[in-house]
Amino acid sequence: MCFMKKVCYVILFVLVTNFCFAQKKDVVSIQVNKPVAEIQPTMWGLFFEDINFAADGGIYAELVKNRSFEFDNPMMAWKEVKTGSGKGRCQILNREHDNPNNPRYISLISESASGTFGLKNEGFRGMGVKKDLQYHFSVIARKVSGDAKLKIELLSSDNAKIGEASVVVSGSDWKKYEVSFKSTATDAKASLKVELEGIGALDLDMVSLFPSDTWKNRPNGLRSDLVQLLADVKPGFIRFPGGCIVEGRDLANRYQWKKTVGKVEERKVIVNRWNTEFKHRLTPDYFQSYGLGFFEYFLLSEDIGAEPLPIMNCGMACQYNTSEMVEVHQLEPYIQDALDLIEFANGAADTKWGRLRADMGHPAPFNLKMIGVGNEQWDVQYIERYKAFVKVLKEKYPQIKIVTGSGPSADGEMFDFAWGELKTLKADLVDEHYYQNPSWFLNNSQRYDKYDRNGPKVFAGEYAAQSKATCSPDNKNTWLCALSEAAFMTGLERNAAVVQMASYAPLFAHTEAWQWAPNMIWFDNLKSYGTTNYYVQKMFSNNKGTSVVPALKDGQALVGKDSLYVSSVIDAKTNEVIIKIVNASSTAKKTKISLEGVKSIEKNAKLQVLSSKDLNSVNSLEQPTAVSTIEKALTLAGKQFEISSDALSFTIVKVKYK
Ligand code: AHR
Repeated sequence: MCFMKKVCYVILFVLVTNFCFAQKKDVVSIQVNKPVAEIQPTMWGLFFEDINFAADGGIYAELVKNRSFEFDNPMMAWKEVKTGSGKGRCQILNREHDNPNNPRYISLISESASGTFGLKNEGFRGMGVKKDLQYHFSVIARKVSGDAKLKIELLSSDNAKIGEASVVVSGSDWKKYEVSFKSTATDAKASLKVELEGIGALDLDMVSLFPSDTWKNRPNGLRSDLVQLLADVKPGFIRFPGGCIVEGRDLANRYQWKKTVGKVEERKVIVNRWNTEFKHRLTPDYFQSYGLGFFEYFLLSEDIGAEPLPIMNCGMACQYNTSEMVEVHQLEPYIQDALDLIEFANGAADTKWGRLRADMGHPAPFNLKMIGVGNEQWDVQYIERYKAFVKVLKEKYPQIKIVTGSGPSADGEMFDFAWGELKTLKADLVDEHYYQNPSWFLNNSQRYDKYDRNGPKVFAGEYAAQSKATCSPDNKNTWLCALSEAAFMTGLERNAAVVQMASYAPLFAHTEAWQWAPNMIWFDNLKSYGTTNYYVQKMFSNNKGTSVVPALKDGQALVGKDSLYVSSVIDAKTNEVIIKIVNASSTAKKTKISLEGVKSIEKNAKLQVLSSKDLNSVNSLEQPTAVSTIEKALTLAGKQFEISSDALSFTIVKVKYK
């Protein structure tokens, strides 16, 4: 055969096979050149709430619990201790007039020249300390009498000394004293002893111990392993501080951001609403020190490149608890809180609240673009209050987007009522919550197909598949739950024209101090891991793209037929097409893909696979990556190719194109 003839045959073969491939009924055609909607940079984000010891005892790295003696029982977490012939007393005193937000302190009185007398703090289910790491101790103190020296000892779980330092408290005025020392051992259950040596009396407040390896080594900082897990998601936004914690059991217990900023020692401790919420998971030692307050939330958002989304109390306490509401004509202080928060985040350093931000170390604005009004509120009462907020907020800050609640359910009378009203009011973004079983997630990937493209946008603000039942303590972060969420999320992505933000909830849980399950990230005092659900979230967020492009088989989206769910996006910045395939069936599948509207592709493509043969698989502290993403290289022959997906798997294919 002559050369030209050969070339003609090859061309003909390629054309014919490509034609047949494209025409075949079982081919998924990805219409790369026909973007249907932009994907917002905020599409996949994080929901932070101080539940399950997420803040104190969790991401906030303070190791001393009840450091300012402000828990209801001022001695909670503290125990009197003595060594040798040590003898003494302690008294809880109140200086409300001088320090209304942090009135209590402890007076330690040592009455023996030999031995020691003092206090031991148990930490948050112990203190997690690491060998050879430096620890920063600080205390606000004053001398009352005598010459007693303040000794600090770090103790292991079996009471051996693993670190020590001492402080000489010299004056009768309140002053901050600081000293650092190394831990000589690693222990998840250490404790801290603070004691007097010699005869004398000292007053102590804000007894504090921080590891030196906080995120960015910041004082008053955050646990780096936990922040790293968040940063790795590359979240588009972070919503804070919740959740029901925004509402409070009653209005007095609601979240008030102004009480969480300024000097740490002047932030008023209050009980955490999850302390007694669930009888089956009572947590009497759960309080909010607000060491992690709104300034720190804004900083965290900035650090991990996420847009901050603060949620404000709208004048209503939790409707599952007291349902207490402020009268509509008395809403002004609540609305003012929202206005002031915007000024705190964005105002110039010469405005009242902008100055506080600058004084706290951040002269540049945080560039807040959105704010939430209320959490899971419902009925006429909510709409009335929401309207009052919107009127004032939109007048002063028309460019700030407002996030509105639609109640706690994914459907039903109250949900429909809220949506009806919010459509009429042309709300910016409506927050929907769904804690449902895995089947619901598998069956609802089409939920947003029929949502009005011209109506309010959706914020899927809290969702998680529940393996047992909503609020059941037996819920687990199983692979079935994660896989069903992935299937559902292909529907969120496909409908990016409507859904502009989404976040799994809740985010964090301490393995020994949680109230709610499932959660995205679990930790103990030293270790942490992302659940199967975490890896699903991370894969979507790390591969969010810039526009949705249709992925069609027989002209239809793949929304669960044969247990297959497919969505696709392009990334205009990297010239990639990104295809997400969820195979929820128990058999492996081959999917034929045809990339339409591209000139050529780069044959070296990338594959990311998350799978497990066992739907009950979970990750754990012992096996943190049992179910985690595996990256593979893939060589493609051309614009048409076949992707094999394992049984029960979530696969992402990334192809560069021209
Ligand atoms: O995520 C836990 C709780 O669930 C949130 O606080 C609340 O908004 C929802 O009911």
